[in-house]
Amino acid sequence: MTINQPVSQDIDNSHIGQMFDSIAWRYDFLNHLLSFGIDRRWRKRAVKEISANFVNPEILDVATGTGDLAIEASGIKPAKITGIDISENMLKIGRRKVTEKKLENLIEFVKCESENICFENESFDVAMVAFGVRNFTDPVRGLSEMRRVLRRNGMVVVLEFSHPHGFIFKHLYNIYFRYLLPFTGSLFSRHREAYRYLNESVMRFPENEEFIRMMTSAGLSDIAQTRMTGGIASIYTGIKK
Ligand SMILES: C[S@@+](CC[C@H](N)C(=O)[O-])C[C@H]1O[C@@H](n2cnc3c(N)ncnc32)[C@H](O)[C@@H]1O
Repeated sequence: MTINQPVSQDIDNSHIGQMFDSIAWRYDFLNHLLSFGIDRRWRKRAVKEISANFVNPEILDVATGTGDLAIEASGIKPAKITGIDISENMLKIGRRKVTEKKLENLIEFVKCESENICFENESFDVAMVAFGVRNFTDPVRGLSEMRRVLRRNGMVVVLEFSHPHGFIFKHLYNIYFRYLLPFTGSLFSRHREAYRYLNESVMRFPENEEFIRMMTSAGLSDIAQTRMTGGIASIYTGIKK
């Protein structure tokens, strides 16, 4: 795969939005169940990248879904967090969670796509995305848009699945993504296609140097990768110079 080739070339944003609309009601439950709760630890680690580098930042959470990363980031005293997503149903659940947590003065959700971010240049200090970039129809364009809305020296933070290297770990990971996840996902959400798509998007998405090249193509500098849990997930950071 070349770096400019869209990962989801056979599927467009309205289809992806509809798919997430249809699984939104089960998303949080399945997310924590299927990750055995590790996803929370990964989000905390991603937020630490922000708190280590910024004081009271203005944050954009791209592909925010039901807002878990935005809610996690609310703990570092940001000036404001804006979450964007193409699925209205995911955002609706996010808004409910934010209201329950009394965070509505801090976190706001807007329906908008990553490939055409609905904010002016230099509006944020940090643009972050968790488990979303592999869904973008054009990931380099999405990353470029994230860079565009950053102020100078702002940071892009990406949390995404990567592939473990150890022999046993690698096989367990393949069994999990190829069989267990589509089966359990379709069982609980009654939406087989969405969980098959999730498996394919994880298997096909570039990682390590290839993803770093995508970030470079998007104009980001000082790119760093932190692999977590044996390489199952990675955090990538890049700076707008
Ligand atoms: C796997 S969920 C991740 C949600 C959340 N960030 C999390 O950590 O749980 C992926 C989200 O990306 C959204 N999404 C997919 N393509 C998008 C795009 N092009 N622009 C904005 N959001 C998008 C989907 O609607 C979905 O809510």
